[in-house]
Amino acid sequence: MADALRLVAWSCCLLILGVQGYEVPKAQIEVFYPKGFEVSIPDGEGISLFAFHGKLNEEMEGLEAGTWARDIVKAKNGRWTFRDRTTALKPGDTLYYWTYVIYNGLGYREDDGSFVVTDYSGNNDSPRPPVVPVSTKPWTPPADPDIDIRLGCTTPKTEVNGAPTRCAGQLVFVDEFNASKLDPNKWKSERRFADKPDYEFNVYVDDAPETLCLANGHVVLSTNTMKKQFRKGSHERLDLGEKCTGLANTHDCVRDGRTLSDGLPPMVTAQFSSKDFSFKYGRVEVRAKMPRAKWVTPQIWLQPKRPIYGVENYQSGQLRIAYTRPNGGYLDLYGAAVLFADEPLRSAKNCLKPGTGDNSEDWSDSFHNYTLEWTPRELRWLVDGREWCVQGSAKGALSETTAGGKSLPQAQKLEEGTGLAPFDQEFYLSFGLSVGGFNEYQHEVKPWNEKAPRAQKDFWNDVKKNRDHWLDEGHLQIDYVKVYSL
Ligand SMILES: *[C@@H]1O[C@H](CO)[C@@H](O)[C@H](O)[C@H]1NC(C)=O
Ligand SMILES: *[C@@H]1O[C@H](CO)[C@@H](O)[C@H](O)[C@H]1NC(C)=O
Repeated sequence: MADALRLVAWSCCLLILGVQGYEVPKAQIEVFYPKGFEVSIPDGEGISLFAFHGKLNEEMEGLEAGTWARDIVKAKNGRWTFRDRTTALKPGDTLYYWTYVIYNGLGYREDDGSFVVTDYSGNNDSPRPPVVPVSTKPWTPPADPDIDIRLGCTTPKTEVNGAPTRCAGQLVFVDEFNASKLDPNKWKSERRFADKPDYEFNVYVDDAPETLCLANGHVVLSTNTMKKQFRKGSHERLDLGEKCTGLANTHDCVRDGRTLSDGLPPMVTAQFSSKDFSFKYGRVEVRAKMPRAKWVTPQIWLQPKRPIYGVENYQSGQLRIAYTRPNGGYLDLYGAAVLFADEPLRSAKNCLKPGTGDNSEDWSDSFHNYTLEWTPRELRWLVDGREWCVQGSAKGALSETTAGGKSLPQAQKLEEGTGLAPFDQEFYLSFGLSVGGFNEYQHEVKPWNEKAPRAQKDFWNDVKKNRDHWLDEGHLQIDYVKVYSL
């Protein structure tokens, strides 16, 4: 059973990464002294081209050409080989690369390759370099932050799980998603129907490789249909069982499509959170690749640990580090400090970076670094190290926020906090995908009516016309998340 599951998880990831049936052989890399290196794969029937794209000591930005970019059109001595004769590589250098193979007329890639030079290869008569001991182990922060007390470090503002951190600039939380499944010590996955306030058109599940799997050091979130996941039609009953994370025996955990005008939700996705790690103020960095599918929203969030300023309608706040929306042929980038669920207040503290044709803003084609810097006075959003939005209390307390003549119902409660309230409390990390829903797309022309009794059905009837393509564009990949103290 466990093996069967693992197999499904594996094939899910293969499918998502676009490698169906054929896998590009792992490149073999040989480094020569004093200069030159070779990258090769063995010849095999059906291969008609091999391409190498690489850079030295600098990660490839997705599928960029790189410093080296060469198509090899002929195998020699049983191998397809890229040769560089001039570069002098040293132990400790890292080659980042991707390769591409045309196999039986179709293209396949090995993505995100990296190779650390540890030694030189060569025939006996080639010269050998002097032996220098090298450490190829990358620097990693100490597991116990307490041992990183340095003299003269600045007093930190950040608190973690109720306690102050020792220094500013410390890594206080990291997951690079290198394992084969989510670390249960860090993350809890949701298993429940979506409900207030946004009524997403999906159920969140915690055990389906079709909606969450780990591959190549990334966590891959996907959407699946209710039909495929549970073999249930809209007018059937679905009980999420004892592991449901909502309130047992309620609408959170059991729904009967026969008694609901809109039936069961048509979609299944995943959402997971760091419920045992929460913090107040800090810098959060998430390296991610966004979905492109319409009506699919990537959730890269901070959520309040305790609902101090109100339980409902995001009254205790939600921070959105980044999300994207298709707009014509482009993807718009958003960040948000959400203070209330309904428009126009919902978007009052949104930031928008409109999509352009610029290659450096291909949010769904390659990975980008999305950062939120959260200090006691302001919130700053950065992408790839560049600031693109600021919200904060410098221009007045967030409690004074108004939109369309409306003010926040919890304004009075917020005044008990700092000017940045509700963002003066601890928040935890939350990642996932949502589909459709009632509040998320209030500004857009869409195939369903806000809060209409058949909203899910209208949504589904529209997207199912192009279902496979739509599902294929609905992935969110996360390479890592890191939280630093400030
Ligand atoms: C995870 O993998 C990345 C890329 O291969 C590597 O740089 C990093 O050190 C790994 N992290 C851990 C904690 O093993
Ligand atoms: C994103 O962060 C990685 C380190 O994790 C870094 O290597 C890369 O250069 C950054 N990319 C940009 C565009 O800032």
